[in-house]
Formats: sequence, structure tokens, C-alpha cells
Amino acid sequence: MSYERKEIAPEEIARQEEICRRIFDRITADGQRPLAMVDTYGCQQNEADSEKLRGYLREMGCGFTQDEFQADIIVINTCAVREHAEMRVFGNVGALNHSKKARPGQIIAVCGCMVQQPHIAEKIKKSYPIVDLVFGPHELWRFPELLEKAMTGKKRVFATEKSDGNLAEGIPQQRDGSVKAWLSIMYGCNNFCTYCIVPYVRGRERSRKPEDVVREARELIAAGYKDITLLGQNVNSYGKDLGLGVDFADLIRMVDAIDGDYVLRFMTSHPKDASEKLFQAMAESRHCAHQLHLPVQSGNDRVLKAMNRSYTRQKYLDQVALARQYMPDLVLTTDIIVGFPGETDAEFEDTLRLVETVGYDAMFTFIYSPRVGTRAAEMPDPMSREDKQRNFDRLLETANAISAEKHAAYVGTVQEVLVDGPSREPGMLSARTMNGRLVHLPGGGELIGQFVKVKITDYTTWSLFGEKV
Ligand code: 5AD
Ligand code: SF4
Repeated sequence: MSYERKEIAPEEIARQEEICRRIFDRITADGQRPLAMVDTYGCQQNEADSEKLRGYLREMGCGFTQDEFQADIIVINTCAVREHAEMRVFGNVGALNHSKKARPGQIIAVCGCMVQQPHIAEKIKKSYPIVDLVFGPHELWRFPELLEKAMTGKKRVFATEKSDGNLAEGIPQQRDGSVKAWLSIMYGCNNFCTYCIVPYVRGRERSRKPEDVVREARELIAAGYKDITLLGQNVNSYGKDLGLGVDFADLIRMVDAIDGDYVLRFMTSHPKDASEKLFQAMAESRHCAHQLHLPVQSGNDRVLKAMNRSYTRQKYLDQVALARQYMPDLVLTTDIIVGFPGETDAEFEDTLRLVETVGYDAMFTFIYSPRVGTRAAEMPDPMSREDKQRNFDRLLETANAISAEKHAAYVGTVQEVLVDGPSREPGMLSARTMNGRLVHLPGGGELIGQFVKVKITDYTTWSLFGEKV
């Protein structure tokens, strides 16, 4: 198993694009435009990966559909962070039996973090014969080559050997939408939090070169994107592997120096590496949202240690205070795990108190899900599922009450928002305040991509409602 950073040569990507052209000739030979469906589970990194899969598929001549009965090629991009997502994938892949029967030439590929786990790849091999191609996150750059093999060969293709450390520039991207864009700045994670599967499936941290990140940001801004989110499992350790003396705070300043009307966001920050230098860069930048997703996971020191999080409750609270000192209008969000192995009710209470003390704008709460191969999965876990659920419900209630209270305080204020597309609320538009809160407002499509002033009129736990002023 190699942990070395391995840059994929540009000629290799050119070769993949050449294969796209070959596939194009093959699948469009009858004059029809084939359709592809890409289904994405999990985090924003996966969404960004799916945009690359779609980029390649577009070069193969595919149009896109969300209907599996219309699709000639189906790619399921999976998540391994919790069991629940894995069960959904198995259920949905199983259901593709019907579409494959209706369209016998249909190619089904399953990729992403879930299949990078040997026991999952094995299960697909044995129990899901309809799947033609399986490949892990490290192989995404050579999706065209793998797909061609699956289309032309007699055997199913499995490419999930560990080839840690790949870093590929220049993969074509088909972005979702025209206002918001994901920009991956690094891949992988070195932290090995004891509950987490990510370092095992996505490998060690590799940072893209600053000039590559800045070039992509410049291209996005020139193309009219207005809301750019820098992505990494732990953006605060950006650059450590490059040895160039450029850290994440420096990178923020480099991107921020690009002129234009846009908002810069980022996620995720690990509290052990978030620094005063970062808060200062955020506060002083012209484009960076005062918005921080700072997962705390637990408010109890023993549990934090067992999770291998490398900070204490107090250090976390000090960081929050410092960040707020630099940015009094900071919007702060977090992730919390309830029911980590051995967590007692008293330890859970510490988390609840911390949540009340910090007062998060929004929280993402999860019940611990054991992941094969992680250290926590071997720890004694005496608390019953019912008791964990009870604590989880209490946390959710507290979190929702705090979020609602924070949102209530917006009512009557005027906020600058960026309108990014149609809203899930029928007939409404969706927008974000500069610091990232979701706002629904009435209005026509001409507002999409515009910065507008909105008077906030109402709220729910998760979003605000407003009207253009
Ligand atoms: N069980 C439950 N939640 C988890 N997360 C990561 N691994 C697990 C797990 N095994 C949560 C963490 C992380 C978020 C993305 O998912 O809170 O921050
Ligand atoms: Fe997982 Fe921890 Fe890395 Fe986040 S920092 S991806 S929780 S190992």
C-alpha cells in the first residue's frame, strides 16, 4: 500500500479523453444520443466527483436523465460514512434489476467510497450480477478506460485496489447549475478519527497546487459563477504535503485577490488546525463568507480523546470565541455524533451543554454507525439503540430550538442574498445570505445569479423567508 502523492500525468488524462471519443463513436453510431444517469450519495466531495463523471460522459456524447428506464449508462456514486447510506445504495442498486431487464444493453457502474471497502466490493461481486463496473475514488480519473472495458469485454470490471494518493488535473467537468460551484482543493484525510471510514477509502491528504486552485477559481468567476465553495475533508491542513509554505489562510487570500462579484465559502474545518491566521484572513478578505463549519463531534473530553480528535472542549470553546472576536457576525455550524461507543448519559449531557453554550446556527447530528475496519468499531458499546435514540432526540430538540431562535432574530432585518436557483418551496426562489443561511423568496428566473436585498419576513428551523426590497 503506497501513501505517496502520485500526480496523474496530463497525457494520461488526454488518453482518457481519447477513449471518450472512441466511446462516442461506438454509442452514437446509430445516430441516437445515449442517456446517462449519475446518482450521488453523501458529501459535497462526492457531488464534485459526480461533476467529473458527467464531464467524461458528456465527452462520450451522452445526454443526462434521472430516469433509470431511459438511461443507457447508470453510475451510482456512493458514500460509506454511515450504514444508512449504504443500505439505501444496496436497495436502489437491487431495484435496477427492472430497468436492466427493460433495457438489456444498460451498463450499471457503482463507484465511490463504499466500494473501496473490500467487503462491499465482494458483496457486489457475489450478490449483484447486474453491476458491470465497480471502481473506487482513486480510479475516477480513468473512468472512460474502465467503462470501455466493461462495454467491450466479456467480464465484469472491478477496479478497487488501493492506489492511494492519486491527484489528477484537467478532468472535464459538467457542473450542476450556473451560480454555485464546488472547487476541490485537496483530497483524502490523515486524521483517523476512530469512528471514521474516510481515511481508509479516500486515502492520505493530497493538496492541489495553489496555482491550479487559483486558476480554476479564476475560470469559474470568469464563467459567471458567484458562489464558490472550496472543498476538502480538512481544509485547514491544506498545503502541508506540498512543502511550499502556502497554508489554507494563504490560499484564501490568493483566491480572494481575484476581482469580481462572488462569495467564497469553504468546508470542512477540523478544530485542531483552525488558526487565528485563518480567522484573520477570513475577516480581512473581500469575498469570504463569515461562515464556519466546525464539527465538534462531542462536548466531552474523554469521548473526544477516544475519537482521536486532538482537542479538548475548552480548546474548542476558545477557538469559537476567537473566531467570533474576528467576525462578530459569524454563522457557525457543526456536526455531532451521539452514541459513540462507551459514551455515557453524563458524557452526552456535556455535549448538550456545549451546544447550548456555543449556540450554533445549524447542526448536523448523527447516531454513531460502526464502520468495518475503524478503531471505534472494536470498542465496547454497551448503550442500547433505544437509549442512543433518546439522547439523539433530545439533542435534536435542543438544536432545533437554538436554530429557530437564531432564525427568529433575522425577522424584520434586511439581508443581502445571492439568488442561486428555484427553491424547493413551490413557486419560490432559493438564495443564500452572505454568511450562508438559506432564504426562500418569491421572484422570477431573471433574479437567478443576482445579489439582491431581501427583507426577512418569516422563518423555520432550517430556513428563512423574505421579500425583495
Ligand atoms: N457514525 C456516525 N457519524 C459519522 N460521521 C463520520 N463517521 C461517522 C460514523 N461512523 C459524521 C461526523 C462527520 C460527518 C461528515 O459524519 O460527524 O463530521
Ligand atoms: Fe473523518 Fe475525522 Fe477525517 Fe473528518 S477529519 S474525514 S471525521 S477522519
